[in-house]
Amino acid sequence: MTFFPTFLYEMKEKIAKIQQEVLGFEITDQVNLEQFRINFLGSKGEIKSLFGDLKSVPVEEKKEIGKLLNDLRVLGEDKYESHKQGLESTSFQKESIDFSRPGETFTVGSHHPISLVRSEIISIFNRIGFVVSEGPEIEDDWHNFSALNFPPEHPARDMQDTFFIEKGENEMALRTHTSSVQVRVMENQQPPIRTISPGRVYRNEAISARAHCFFHQVEGLYIDKNVSFADLKQTLLYFAQEMFGEKAQIRLRPSYFPFTEPSAEVDVSCTICNAKGCNVCKHTGWLEILGCGMVDPNVLEAAGIDSTVYTGYAFGMGIERITQLKYKVNDLRLYSENDVRFLKQFTPSI
Ligand code: DAH
Repeated sequence: MTFFPTFLYEMKEKIAKIQQEVLGFEITDQVNLEQFRINFLGSKGEIKSLFGDLKSVPVEEKKEIGKLLNDLRVLGEDKYESHKQGLESTSFQKESIDFSRPGETFTVGSHHPISLVRSEIISIFNRIGFVVSEGPEIEDDWHNFSALNFPPEHPARDMQDTFFIEKGENEMALRTHTSSVQVRVMENQQPPIRTISPGRVYRNEAISARAHCFFHQVEGLYIDKNVSFADLKQTLLYFAQEMFGEKAQIRLRPSYFPFTEPSAEVDVSCTICNAKGCNVCKHTGWLEILGCGMVDPNVLEAAGIDSTVYTGYAFGMGIERITQLKYKVNDLRLYSENDVRFLKQFTPSI
């Protein structure tokens, strides 16, 4: 092949020009980094094509031109690699840790007010020796009504009040009160018995601010020799003062329940106005909190306990009612709506 001296000159010119281009090429992101690679280092890039021209350089000059080309290639590759690493490390930082970002808040749950009050009631009675017993929410007629001395035609058995699951011989229903658990305990245990039974109960009622089709109760039962009405009264006074403060007072009004004789309804002095009279206590200074009485001998006998040897008292209270008085919530529906704005106001105290 004929060698023209101008070729050599042009070759050196070209190398110098591309060197300037390599040096001047601005790499700021992944897109122009890739463009740089294609322009200079790729198989169809400028540097590659110069290496192709090396074939035409005479042997004596090959060493010099080859060295110039090699230096150019190293220059391009170094620039490519260093920018590549720089871009990768900044994009890594952007993705993983940005110390200037505001922290993310996470929400901590709170106890449901019914759970808080149930635990408090349990703890108050635990301290005087009552243990927790539980029973099924789907009950038979015997435990919910018959064993508790409800006459066959008692209005509480009516379809109006009870959610029946099965009518007739094997009658099953959602329990209407936790008094059913006291029957189960007495059937399985001989006195002394000192138990409380918290749980959910159901009644066929239209839902409103003052009534709901399900709610929660705590039943209490104490059976031993010589248990008297005075024991009942003192236990309930202890409960009221533990729950509502040591100034709380109670009063008992005669009442009727089929399973207790005598029976009473218990009021606590109004915690909202300190018994001075307000809207909540309807200016009476008293708020009703529970029902109670001495266990009817018929109930003891039905459950297999000798009523000539043992006596006992029982009481039953609504957890929603106690919660209403403690936290001044006046709409029963709030307890089951799961509105976070309502629930988060109750911070655990236990
Ligand atoms: N079971 C009654 C109710 O649901 C509450 C109750 C009243 C329970 C008097 C008792 C009691 O143990 O003696 O309304």
